[in-house]
Amino acid sequence: MPNANPEIKYTKLFINNEFVDAVSKKTFTTLNPATAEKIIDVAAADKADVDLAVEAARKAFAPGSEWRSMDPSAKGKLIHKFADLIQRDRSYLADLESVDNGKPVGDSDFDIGMAIDCLRYFAGWSDKIHGDTIPVDGNFMTITRKEPVGVVGAIIPWNYPILMAAWKLSPALTTGCTVILKPAEQTPLTALYLGALAKEAGFPPGVVNILPGLGPQAGAAISGHLNIDKVAFTGSTDIGRLIMGSAAASNLKRVTLELGGKSPLIICADSDLDQAAEIAHGAIFNNHGQNCCAGSRTFVEASIYDSFIAKAKALAEKRKVGDPFGDGVQQGPQIDETQFKKIQDLIDSGKKEGATCVTGGGRWGEKGYFIQPTIFADVQDNMRIAKEEIFGPVQSIFKFSDINEAIERANATKYGLAAGIMTNDINKALLFAQSVQAGSVWVNCFDIVFANAPFGGYKQSGQGRELGEVSLKEYLETKTVTIALTKKV
Ligand code: NAI
Ligand code: MG
Repeated sequence: MPNANPEIKYTKLFINNEFVDAVSKKTFTTLNPATAEKIIDVAAADKADVDLAVEAARKAFAPGSEWRSMDPSAKGKLIHKFADLIQRDRSYLADLESVDNGKPVGDSDFDIGMAIDCLRYFAGWSDKIHGDTIPVDGNFMTITRKEPVGVVGAIIPWNYPILMAAWKLSPALTTGCTVILKPAEQTPLTALYLGALAKEAGFPPGVVNILPGLGPQAGAAISGHLNIDKVAFTGSTDIGRLIMGSAAASNLKRVTLELGGKSPLIICADSDLDQAAEIAHGAIFNNHGQNCCAGSRTFVEASIYDSFIAKAKALAEKRKVGDPFGDGVQQGPQIDETQFKKIQDLIDSGKKEGATCVTGGGRWGEKGYFIQPTIFADVQDNMRIAKEEIFGPVQSIFKFSDINEAIERANATKYGLAAGIMTNDINKALLFAQSVQAGSVWVNCFDIVFANAPFGGYKQSGQGRELGEVSLKEYLETKTVTIALTKKV
């Protein structure tokens, strides 16, 4: 049974397999967004703590260390053990995630399932990463070695706390790196618990370090650190840009970025209208719209526009909003007051700029950061709600008359994370899949993500890819070794 008052065991920094206070002794407060009340104070890492974590992670990565010399298959077994422990404590972790983040406890459980899948997928790679033998000219044998990039700093957001932790830890660990993970200040609790589970699984000290803290302090100290080899970031495009700049200005560390989105979903008149309305609804309202690939621009073909709006409205008004621990609740609060105000401001701008507010448009309830499921129709491409990432439960519906026009408008954004189309016409689906500038394209579905399929953005939605085999190279160096032969046979 879900428990809305899970015991909170860890609130300190996790460095070198120990929970410790911040050097400055500073803390910050994490809130329960459903009540806007304090849950607990958590140690706030700053540069001095990042230095300590880097020292531990460096030592763990040093040649001859337990971690560096561990058999590759043993690394894989450790990652599987870590996944086993998450599974063991799955219901506790789901409670903790929902208290700290506000998402319905069933959604937290779903995310944890995805996190476990991710760890297990990457665990399997630990003994399968290898280089090539290259047939070079002359009397030489040339081989490549795939080596871990080193100490990885991972900075993650609050919308999928456990899942984002798994997306960063899994590839880093299977390639043999060591990690300093900074959870978002809104949601530090499950990441700290993962630290304890990593220790219990048997990772040597310094391999996994968890440093809660604020972005401009802990986050900036990671991205600008001279002794961190790579930073993996998920969050806003603005901060992604800062991180890339500070990586460039410090030691040119490797950077992968998974940033914002304004993903289009095209609804063609030939699609099944009920199914299209359901998928478009889930595409934007799942996770309260706090989803980097949210289908936040719904383009509907003119001939079905009015009937689609009626169905979308019915679905939004049926959506159950409330206590994340309540029965059948589909939507909890937004993460914090800042996000709440940002969303409200964008809703107000939609009204002012002349879009039609079909339903919602205001606060839900008396306390916490809840927003009513909101739909705007008659949205024009130049409105703020058409261009800016809202990151809230706000569906913007546009009208189109021709698939080529829809594709052009779908691409008219600085973002390129994801896109979708609902159609029974294979030619339209294939034209769209080839033409749209986005890292993930969904046909007759939306937001379907697998641990073994690459994920990431075109344009200002990011750099590099996560998940799947292609993501491993983001955590690996390639060393070319050329050996002179005495005789070529
Ligand atoms: P953010 O980008 O500020 O936060 C993400 C992470 O970056 C957090 O761990 C934060 O502590 C860290 N961070 C903040 N400033 C930093 C700095 N100077 N150096 C290093 N790390 C830093 O995002 P925020 O403010 O939580 O949300 C703002 C908007 O960003 C949202 O409204 C949404 O549009 C977008 N966003 C996108 C996400 C995605 O999944 N791509 C996730 C979260 C937010
Ligand atoms: Mg919180």
